[in-house]
Amino acid sequence: MINTKLGILAAACAFALAACSDKQPAEAPEAAPTAATPAPAPTEAAPQDSMQAMTPAASPAPATPAAAANGKPTAQVTDCSTEFEGTDAMQYSISSIVVPASCTDFKITLKHTGKLPVAAMGHDVVITKTSDMEAVDADGRAAGQDNGYVKADDPRIIAHTKLIGGGETTSVSFPVSKIKDGGPYTFFCSFPGHSALMKGSISVQ
Ligand code: CO
Repeated sequence: MINTKLGILAAACAFALAACSDKQPAEAPEAAPTAATPAPAPTEAAPQDSMQAMTPAASPAPATPAAAANGKPTAQVTDCSTEFEGTDAMQYSISSIVVPASCTDFKITLKHTGKLPVAAMGHDVVITKTSDMEAVDADGRAAGQDNGYVKADDPRIIAHTKLIGGGETTSVSFPVSKIKDGGPYTFFCSFPGHSALMKGSISVQ
């Protein structure tokens, strides 16, 4: 509401400089209706965004998640959680995760649907700022498999699952507040070399 009022005021000043410089209260009501036309737009947009955010939770099978550039869908989100797959072909089944802003915590479950052991085709999910991914990935590689290719107590890591092999499943939960600001954020697999293909965006809407 404050932004809307400021917007009207700014528009009023832009279209009626005389009214603002004169500071006559009588002028304001005349200028306001002129500026009021664009003002309802953001007010109407808010409910639409809320509806979109709630849709995945309300219906478990939206079925038509937006496809990303690489052809993989956005993760389906239900009850502030999502589950997707990692494969023996070194791929995640999704390309992006959109976390509803209404969620306090969010849970990610990774299911390795392949058959290869963790030493050959390990997968995990590590979340960092996009700008931190490369360095965190390198430090994870240096940490070695005994540490799940994740550097211990790395403050750049917002959340991560354990490293799993074929047939295994792993989950992690984290506060949504950690990725609400300061993005963009990325999720990726820290197994050496995998982040080239196994990565995607995670955002809050
Ligand atoms: Co992997």
